[in-house]
Amino acid sequence: MTAADTSKTRSDDPHPLRAAAAAVRLNAHAPYSNFKVGAAIRARSGTVYVGCNVENVAYPEGTCAEAGAIAAMVAAGETELVEAYVIADCPSPVPPCGGCRQKLKEFGTTEVPVTLATTDGVEQATSIGDLLPGAFDAGHMDRS
Ligand code: THU
Repeated sequence: MTAADTSKTRSDDPHPLRAAAAAVRLNAHAPYSNFKVGAAIRARSGTVYVGCNVENVAYPEGTCAEAGAIAAMVAAGETELVEAYVIADCPSPVPPCGGCRQKLKEFGTTEVPVTLATTDGVEQATSIGDLLPGAFDAGHMDRS
């Protein structure tokens, strides 16, 4: 690890969302990128919702793992997430794409912890605020 990687850890004590995110990742439909991603989010009620990336032969129609988990939460009637975990088989913990950062921000405060992980067990702790500094929100449309 480099000096910049000091927040990345390897722990014997599994994160409570890790198993759910790792399990749903196996269901990803990723025949074009061959890059499977799993996401698990805990809503305010305590319920955990999961999602995986679902690609499409018309490439822009694919959806990310985070988007799937958020859609499942909203479909179940919840709109507040308090924790998130994202996992993929990559050399360093998978960073959510820009669109997913904005999607997470829609349903979580800047303080919400987000754990980025590799299937090898490396984890990086961050937060929605750190992932999306200067986020656009409804206040930016207020002209009164
Ligand atoms: N992907 C996600 O599911 N989440 C992310 O945050 C990063 C990227 C997916 C989208 C696509 O199916 C594949 O990874 C390669 O970009």
